[in-house]
Amino acid sequence: MTKLAKISFSKAGAPTKGVAVVLATEKLGLGNIAHEVTSALEGGLERAAGIAGFSGKKKTTLDLVAPAGLTLDRLIVFGLGKAEDVSLGDWRAFGGVVLAALQKAKADAAEILFDVPEGVELTASAIAEFAMGAKLRAYTFDTYKSKKKGAEPEKDLKLTLKVPDTKAARKSWNVSEGIADGVILARDLVNEPANVLGPVEFAKKAAELQSLGVEVDILGEKEMKKLKMAALLGVAQGSVRPPRLAVMRWNGGKKGTAPVAFVGKGVVFDTGGISIKPSGGMEDMKGDMGGAAAVTGAMHAIAARKAKANVIGVIGLVENMPDGNAQRPGDIVTAMSGTTIEILNTDAEGRLVLADALWYTQQKYKPAIMIDLATLTGAVLVALGNLNAGLFSNDDDLAEKLLSSAGTSGEPLWRLPLSKEYDKIIDTPNADVKNTGGRWAGSVTAAQFLQRFVNDVPWAHLDVAGTAFGAPKDDISQGWASGYGVRLLNQLVADHYEG
Ligand code: BES
Ligand code: MN
Ligand code: ZN
Repeated sequence: MTKLAKISFSKAGAPTKGVAVVLATEKLGLGNIAHEVTSALEGGLERAAGIAGFSGKKKTTLDLVAPAGLTLDRLIVFGLGKAEDVSLGDWRAFGGVVLAALQKAKADAAEILFDVPEGVELTASAIAEFAMGAKLRAYTFDTYKSKKKGAEPEKDLKLTLKVPDTKAARKSWNVSEGIADGVILARDLVNEPANVLGPVEFAKKAAELQSLGVEVDILGEKEMKKLKMAALLGVAQGSVRPPRLAVMRWNGGKKGTAPVAFVGKGVVFDTGGISIKPSGGMEDMKGDMGGAAAVTGAMHAIAARKAKANVIGVIGLVENMPDGNAQRPGDIVTAMSGTTIEILNTDAEGRLVLADALWYTQQKYKPAIMIDLATLTGAVLVALGNLNAGLFSNDDDLAEKLLSSAGTSGEPLWRLPLSKEYDKIIDTPNADVKNTGGRWAGSVTAAQFLQRFVNDVPWAHLDVAGTAFGAPKDDISQGWASGYGVRLLNQLVADHYEG
């Protein structure tokens, strides 16, 4: 597979060599320059379109090889659909689909002509979204594929976007590229196997954000013991690899404004512990740090685009292993908050990690809002499949904001309930709370558990067990790890907490 190497911008004009892409609305509507290019085909476009059944419908392509009358090797015509219903999100998808068409054509360079007929809104942000879609579609995780001797080296694919206003497009891409890099960072972290990415290694990756101006503190076992984080430490005690808590701080806002806080579940591998999981599919549990990866990726995006906001990312990094020293079902631990927890199932470990991470974040940083992301329950897959992440919140205003940014970013959320009645399910005679509420409403009782470690700060919990990995391939994501959450969190900050 060809990889995307570089995206650059130049002034819109007729492409004359190599592979070119022009954009068409339904019934082959073209912009002036595109029209000029295709008129050299002397009716050849209409003829080819007729034969191939191409009419410019949304996300369709017509690939003309060595078109007579043109010096181009290929002319790819890409369908935008009806002029009036091209949204900003569509441009992102278009970038993905065009990239796939170029890969299929084995192109190593291509020029894309952003010249559209009247009625199509073509802003600098639309062009940047297109570029982001292309970059995300091109992502592959091939770190561990050894290069075969004598095999042809993979070619990079260079894209030149020919646009009406190069300055505006470059400016917009500067922002979007940082966001795309954040998504790619999250995907890499989730794809990386657990033997390579343990808690210590993950914390090192978080520390690398210092190069973007993020302040990073890493807490080790000693510090966490001092803070009495027995819930988090209890999960970690069955692993020979010590836990970490990484705190990332971006101070782009006014001094003294309460920060937005993101908290992530970072279980680098979840065997289930003594309540061990069945072996089938257990390899997926290398992705049980998808929440922490999304938080780290979002911090990258926010810092890279120098967001005018104060944002904190806190990730709890542990490995859940069965071992002579592992935590047992029946154990009772006292969380940092003072709440006692009866462990009934050591596989309900994410909520234990988050109990201390949430409490710590809230006490130490007094955030304006707090959002946690976690691959928390299999039950959210039963409820929503992998098309929506589950949203739980104690605050309708925050929930609305999240739902709206989910729409814009194309990372969908569906709200699920919290209530006193659900909360009762996790009461136990032996301690303040138990860590499982049984089979029914498993995602809700998990969220209720987390809420016991949240005071009156507006808080939301996103259960990303269905969306962080293993989700269906789409226009901009072709691999196992999706990077879900990075664009959503970044969008939320951009929409509601900046300036
Ligand atoms: N990491 C899992 C949840 C999960 C399952 C994520 C499938 C992604 C895909 C979590 O730690 C877990 O094991 N949850 C249990 C909770 C139960 C023991 C109450 C579950 O969902 O079965
Ligand atoms: Mn588990
Ligand atoms: Zn887990």
